[in-house]
Amino acid sequence: MTAGAAFSRGLEGVIAAESALTYIDGQKGILAYLGIPIEELAEHSSFEETAFLLFYQRLPKRAELEGFQSELIRHRALPEPILDLLKRLPRTAAPMALLRTAVSALGHFDPKPDDVSTTALQEKALRLTAQMATLTAAIGRLRKGLEPIAPTTDLSHAANFLYMLTGQKPTEEATRVFDVALILHADHEFPASTFASTVVASTLSDIYSSICAALGALKGPLHGGANEQVIRMIIEIGDPSRAESYIKEKLARKEIIMGFGHRQYKTYDPRARILKRYSERLAQQTHDTRLFQIEEIVEKTVIEALGGRGIFPNVDFYSGTVYHYLGIEPELYTPIFAVSRIVGWAAHIMEYLKENRIFRPTTRYVGPPLGHYIPIEQRT
Ligand SMILES: CC(C)(COP(=O)(O)OP(=O)(O)OC[C@H]1O[C@@H](n2cnc3c(N)ncnc32)[C@H](O)[C@@H]1OP(=O)(O)O)[C@@H](O)C(=O)NCCC(=O)NCCS
Repeated sequence: MTAGAAFSRGLEGVIAAESALTYIDGQKGILAYLGIPIEELAEHSSFEETAFLLFYQRLPKRAELEGFQSELIRHRALPEPILDLLKRLPRTAAPMALLRTAVSALGHFDPKPDDVSTTALQEKALRLTAQMATLTAAIGRLRKGLEPIAPTTDLSHAANFLYMLTGQKPTEEATRVFDVALILHADHEFPASTFASTVVASTLSDIYSSICAALGALKGPLHGGANEQVIRMIIEIGDPSRAESYIKEKLARKEIIMGFGHRQYKTYDPRARILKRYSERLAQQTHDTRLFQIEEIVEKTVIEALGGRGIFPNVDFYSGTVYHYLGIEPELYTPIFAVSRIVGWAAHIMEYLKENRIFRPTTRYVGPPLGHYIPIEQRT
């Protein structure tokens, strides 16, 4: 315990690192990567370009972007033993847990896993970004008893993922929507998963260990696991006419409504605003507006009850229906978060290690005063 040090439960309001990557204004609902508003990136950028932006802290020139894209494509395939390993693990295991196991195992195929020099980390970050998509698609197929599909070399990151999952080349519209979802999830400053991965990296451990820590944190329902919980809730509600009473009853029981609230945002999460538009568009295109209608009523009911306390939809609220309309199953929503957030995790690790200092906070001691060891026969 450090005398006089401030204590903040859940580290709320504590600045744990300096970063040039992501800016959030939670009062105004602003999110920007390297100063570029998320709305502009969603409109004009691609996942690959956004990954370059976060890794190298600047937008690429055309040739640089093409080189980066080619490298991502080159690293898409997985070592055969990794696929064998995934095939041998129980099909019932949680996809996020499988992803964590697979990333850990990938480290054994890196001849220099412990190299944390900048160049080595850039290469590993790129390779992990490429492979996280292949792993997630393979996990998605294996759990349905299907063979994984080898990656293509001619499709974008977003299109290739959808192809590896379904075996069909996706439409331009589906590719664009999924690409935007990946852009929106690429980084978000210092949430539990990014903090966890940076803590591990600060010990100069290998990046695979750091990413496993991040995956473990993202898996939790209070973090990335929320998107799966949201869609399950919307499906359980089942009909727009039940939505309002369902939410009011939940609130009366003081239950948390998944997909709402955020430590940083006290207003509408800008990512949710964009995803809501895409969700509505897809609902209309697929002539299946029921789930979107339920979501709108859930949103209205929660905001009426809790908006005054700064609780609004977060990124996980509308991402679920976007993925649902793209034909993806709920079990993969959190792994898909990781397919994108690997970029933010790796970017923060690389940034932090440039001026590394091991994370070692302290606790406020609330135990008994100093005493003495009591021999077992004297214990009452
Ligand atoms: C994201 C989250 C973990 C942030 O937690 P936090 O900053 O520690 O905020 P707290 O949990 O202390 O919430 C503050 C108050 O708002 C309430 N609250 C927060 N989010 C709520 C939600 N989704 N539904 C109902 N009440 C909520 C809390 O119960 C608490 O009420 P109290 O002061 O009466 O105890 C929290 O909002 C949450 O659990 N949301 C649902 C899960 C989710 O969607 N996670 C994804 C985040 S991107």
